[in-house]
Amino acid sequence: MPVITCIDDLKRVYRRRVPRMFYDYAESGSWTEQTFRENVTDFAELRLRQKIAVDMTGRSTATEMIGEAVAMPVAIAPVGLTGMQRADGEIKAARAAEKFGVPYTLSTMSICSIEDVARHAKKPFWFQIYTLNDDDFNRKIIDRAKAAECSALVITVDLQILGQRHKDLKNGLSAPPKLTIPTMLNLATKWGWGIEMLQTKRRFFGNIVGHVEGVSDPASLSAWTAEKFDAALNWDKIKKLMDMWGGKVILKGILDVEDAEKAAGLGADAIVVSNHGGRQLDGALSSIRMVPAIAAAVGDKTEVWMDGGVRSGQDVLKAVALGARGVMIGRAFVYGLGAMGEAGVMKVLEVIHKELDVSMALCGETKVSSVGRHNVLVPKGFLDAFD
Ligand SMILES: Cc1cc2nc3c(=O)[nH]c(=O)nc-3n(C[C@H](O)[C@H](O)[C@H](O)COP(=O)(O)O)c2cc1C
Repeated sequence: MPVITCIDDLKRVYRRRVPRMFYDYAESGSWTEQTFRENVTDFAELRLRQKIAVDMTGRSTATEMIGEAVAMPVAIAPVGLTGMQRADGEIKAARAAEKFGVPYTLSTMSICSIEDVARHAKKPFWFQIYTLNDDDFNRKIIDRAKAAECSALVITVDLQILGQRHKDLKNGLSAPPKLTIPTMLNLATKWGWGIEMLQTKRRFFGNIVGHVEGVSDPASLSAWTAEKFDAALNWDKIKKLMDMWGGKVILKGILDVEDAEKAAGLGADAIVVSNHGGRQLDGALSSIRMVPAIAAAVGDKTEVWMDGGVRSGQDVLKAVALGARGVMIGRAFVYGLGAMGEAGVMKVLEVIHKELDVSMALCGETKVSSVGRHNVLVPKGFLDAFD
């Protein structure tokens, strides 16, 4: 068993254990991957301000996200095909999140279905939908999420059209993988992954197959999704989805102050400053750069969260210091899941928690609500480098 000290350790194990096609699927951004890279490198530009001789006893990272108690201000982001990174991946990740005390978000494009995850989870989880142009599908999937007692709906608003990820095209990404010669050669070196996959029945898009007429294989699913993403999306349609749900709503994928104002105006309980992990508009700014302006504009009207590039507790602290009330983690939890299943996701949460706890203490803070702009040192020009 390798000694795991940080998220990068898990990423190395993940890379060894999971088929290349699915590693590449997670570890990619669109086109040149500039935004994907800068989500991470921009965090590294920021520095934390050390404080000494402050009583650090009795401190806690616990807080709330949309009124739900959380062990730290971190939620698991929706990630499609999680069940291809590890057999039954969504169930494993949901269980780890629940045990640790942070929210889990199930993607529409998951391998395990909503009902399946609900059967294996004891606490409510969140469900993510896309803005599809099919009211019938939207209504049915929202009803299924309600029946599964999901406690919030995450509406992803930055995917009207798909950004291109070169590696997925080159690898012929599909679930389950198509057995070409290169894929088979690679799978032969990932026997642990393969044995677990052979033992599960969950190998296809559980929320879609069997629920949408005519979708029965990867080709028909691709055709269906390409046709259903709503190129004509507008704010009224977003509002309609929010009303269809009628409960707590998180709008994810906002990177602009004006859009944040509109989202807050619609009554979203939270917005996620996000560029989809650098998978959509390549050349957009990193999420962390946009947090201060968006938090200043709407932070008193809605909860402002962020995602993109969070790989440590120090990153969580920097995001909160710049105005985010919470963060979501995508790839970080995927690394843990692919490396070691449920225990790996648990490890990710433990690593991030310890880093956050110790870093908060060294910054002289004992509770999340006291963390603020005074805890972070921002390089000159960082926040207004672009016009
Ligand atoms: C492999 C992968 C699949 C994703 N699938 C979805 C998805 O199905 N729905 C969604 O709203 N966002 C999806 N995202 C975006 C994440 O929810 C999140 O915004 C992003 O991963 C945050 O960046 P990070 O990975 O650097 O933490 C996906 C991201 C990755 C890496």
